[in-house]
Amino acid sequence: MSGSGERDPIFSYEDAIFSNEELLDVQHIPSPDRIVGRDEHISKVANVLNPVLFGSPPTNLVIYGKTGTGKSLIARHVVDRLTDEAATEGITVRSARIDCGRRSTETEAVKTLARYFNTENTGVSVPKTGVSTGDYYDRLWSILESECDIAIVVLDEIDKLRSDEILRNLSRAGEDENVTDTYIGIIGVSNKIDYPDTLSERVKSSFRYDDLVFTPYDATELENILQKREDAYVEGVLTDDVIPLCAALSAQEHGDARKAIDIFRHAGRIARDERSKEVSEKHVRAGKKRAEMNRFEELIRGTPTQGKATLLAISLMTQRTDDDTHSTRSVYQAYERIANEIGLDCLSERRVGELLDELDFLNVIRTRRTSRGRGAGMYNEHRLLEDAEVVKQVIVSDSRFSDWSDSAEETL
Ligand SMILES: Nc1ncnc2c1ncn2[C@@H]1O[C@H](COP(=O)(O)OP(=O)(O)O)[C@@H](O)[C@H]1O
Ligand SMILES: [Mg+2]
Repeated sequence: MSGSGERDPIFSYEDAIFSNEELLDVQHIPSPDRIVGRDEHISKVANVLNPVLFGSPPTNLVIYGKTGTGKSLIARHVVDRLTDEAATEGITVRSARIDCGRRSTETEAVKTLARYFNTENTGVSVPKTGVSTGDYYDRLWSILESECDIAIVVLDEIDKLRSDEILRNLSRAGEDENVTDTYIGIIGVSNKIDYPDTLSERVKSSFRYDDLVFTPYDATELENILQKREDAYVEGVLTDDVIPLCAALSAQEHGDARKAIDIFRHAGRIARDERSKEVSEKHVRAGKKRAEMNRFEELIRGTPTQGKATLLAISLMTQRTDDDTHSTRSVYQAYERIANEIGLDCLSERRVGELLDELDFLNVIRTRRTSRGRGAGMYNEHRLLEDAEVVKQVIVSDSRFSDWSDSAEETL
């Protein structure tokens, strides 16, 4: 090809569908003009942080609500605006966000904060290992004192922290000038609605905070959010019903903006793969399916083959019967058929029961202990929380399940 000037037709040089696909990336942080429909929440967070501008300590805040309701986005947005505003008043605000899903112990969280806030100017070192938790705190206090007047610490996914001691320690240090002169504002963000109830008594008695609930978006709000990112697409490729349908389909579940954006993006990708000139309703429906499959694949990535076989068993049971709950016994019978068919060692019913417990823990199924009636003992009933067809398709696409065919399913 070289020098001929001709391009190999199997590759394309133009994206006929997307002009700026990154706008729909999960990691993408939208610019302020693309944030819509959370004015009240923005002003509430601003109120809580406002004292900073008078040189006073901010109030702590716990934000909670379901996933995809804009909690992390709004927290970051307001903290950034505060930092800029404070700078014009000569007040140095620094902020850090800890992902407590990844840094789930107190030590890891404090260490991460200290390392994040540290600069060459502090004269403090923060080694990765070999330092006690208390020592990490001490280093953090001196770093903060030399680095800023106010520190805002966003503890995201705070419900994943194994211990809530860090709340107590950060809030006490922020109030005590003998520890550090820097005021510390804490913003805890949780996907669990009942998070404040789960705080330990010790923390409840010393950690003062306001709280703010993020309710799910309705279809109109989701539509507005998507409209602000319409320019991810080449002008004119979206048919009129695409955005309303993406919004409506996500609003039906629980108003999760992340899901809406995900469906919106997958619709475009499917249209592009088909070399379609436009994105239409059928692409949105297929996009929803693909988005669900991806999410589910992610969720069960670490599940071993035996667990997947168990899950396939329960999804087939769900599809074949009118019931949506199934006893361990009936799941086990379907599991045995599957294990035999694909050449998997057949585990005992007890072991499969344990695998079901793990799936319950993963939130893929819900297990309930039920009584057969007086004196008849207890047994477990399992219900699939995902769409059975999605589960089935994801599992049978795994190469270990290539021997499981529709005809095998008929014999179940
Ligand atoms: N009001 C909004 N305007 C624009 N984009 C939003 C809005 N709310 C959420 N998003 C987008 O939806 C996704 C999920 O939001 P996020 O703040 O991470 O949710 P949460 O932390 O509540 O799970 C992100 O990609 C975010 O950019
Ligand atoms: Mg979040």
